Amino acid sequence: MKLIKTIGVVGAGAMGRGIAQLFAQSGFTVFCYDMSKDATNDAIEYIKKMIRKSVDKGRLEVSVLEALNDNLLAASSLQDLSECDMVIEAIVENVSVKQGLFEELESIISEDAILASNTSSLVIAEIASQCQHPERVAGLHFFNPVPLMKVAEIIAAVRTHSSVIHSLKNLVEATGHRAVIAEDQPGFLVNHAGRGLYTEGLRIVEEQVAPPEVVDTILREAANFRMGPFELMDLTGLDVSGKVMESIYQQFLHEPRFRPSSLVPPRISAGLFGRKTSQGWYSYKDGKRIDSQDATIDYPSASGAVWIDHKATDAEALKQFVIEQSWSLAQQPEDADLILIQPWGQDASGYCAENHLAAHKVVAIDPLPGLDKHRTLMLTSVTTESARNVACTLFSADGVPFSVINDSPGFICQRVIATIVNIAANIAQRGIASVDDLEDAVKIGLGYPSGPLHLGDSVGAANIFEILTQQQKTTGDDRYRPSLWLRRRAQLGLALTSEEARRS
Ligand code: NAI
Repeated sequence: MKLIKTIGVVGAGAMGRGIAQLFAQSGFTVFCYDMSKDATNDAIEYIKKMIRKSVDKGRLEVSVLEALNDNLLAASSLQDLSECDMVIEAIVENVSVKQGLFEELESIISEDAILASNTSSLVIAEIASQCQHPERVAGLHFFNPVPLMKVAEIIAAVRTHSSVIHSLKNLVEATGHRAVIAEDQPGFLVNHAGRGLYTEGLRIVEEQVAPPEVVDTILREAANFRMGPFELMDLTGLDVSGKVMESIYQQFLHEPRFRPSSLVPPRISAGLFGRKTSQGWYSYKDGKRIDSQDATIDYPSASGAVWIDHKATDAEALKQFVIEQSWSLAQQPEDADLILIQPWGQDASGYCAENHLAAHKVVAIDPLPGLDKHRTLMLTSVTTESARNVACTLFSADGVPFSVINDSPGFICQRVIATIVNIAANIAQRGIASVDDLEDAVKIGLGYPSGPLHLGDSVGAANIFEILTQQQKTTGDDRYRPSLWLRRRAQLGLALTSEEARRS
């Protein structure tokens, strides 16, 4: 195993300077090189400024700053990297340019030095394919901003030697970041697992279930995501996230689970990139969102008798709620002004047809987040305004916020969470990473409330399996077919993160 002490960073843009900063402040000797001399010098100044700030705030020792004169060095040519134990490239995302760089570096660095790429979308084996020693090439994928995003993916390409992976793992851990190991597959781990939130969010909007602001609000308030998919797309820039969606779908050979949305290309053409163009799914002025962030609706107050489906998950709690508001419970659905149902993975219209309920009087309420979180009320295709108004009045009684959406197989939370869990389960099925690495990478890299399989366990593996099965049945879309890994564990009654479940 190679002990890494001296590191070359090629490309001193957003990522290169962050990577150089992380290694320099962790005590490694770092040579920084960019084809633009100004970019190299700017990066050195920037890193010193950032480290000085951290010292001022007491986050780093002053000795780290003092050491920079010796351990952070500008390289004026690639030749200056000859003594490096490892060189990481963070140059333009172009496979032939990266191949050319590695070919040139191989003639400069020592036989056993490691070559790493920070690419987010290219195949590591392809970058390595022109090298004389492809076994020394691996992916080392950091996230922006590098010092703050405390995870790095180490990518083992088909020819990468295991000692290279061990060296990189030790290196990353020495910086305090979590090192996760993933196979050389599209999107590696984080960008692969992150597909579900965007693509299912887009599909929900495509189907006219709800507008973007309602989808975002529900996912934040009911499912604890820091941001909804549309807020995230606006932050990253649709030009960037649209490309990633497209490229992962292509690289997975049109796997329906990753299918992007036709809503995206016209918006990219029109320049609706998000924050950076002041217009995306939302509008911005001086960097601040200026449109309404409110997902509540107007409705005239109404009342009536309520019948609660005996199959509803929260039937007893809902009955109690109705009684507490001094409303009357109907004994038969025929006597009710409002019928409440709680389907899993099925749309409300389909559920009514199957259970012989009068769909015009039906409103569904999502059982997934529980009744005390932001509530989602879902209409059938024919729910009358009066039934909707009765439901809105009833559920406004205790001040818990709610949204009303159109019919959808799995409301919004169920759909998005089940999609995320299913993709994660398939990562486990394919052995792209260990369960622990997958969970930590997603939690740290994507800032999700928990790792995706823990998220699945919080809903229940059997419930996730039921949502997906019903979704596939309702839509006929194989996008929702449950992964075998999930299916087997749900059928055997295992928690997805249990020791038993991890044994493949
Ligand atoms: P950037 O455009 O900010 O910086 C790239 C730098 O590389 C520029 O300073 C440019 O002058 C230099 N460069 C280009 N070709 C070069 C060459 N042949 N030799 C030496 N220097 C060269 O790009 P950014 O955003 O830093 O991305 C760099 C790499 O990191 C890309 O592969 C990208 O996919 C990947 N990445 C980017 C992330 C991001 O959030 N921006 C996140 C994770 C990975």
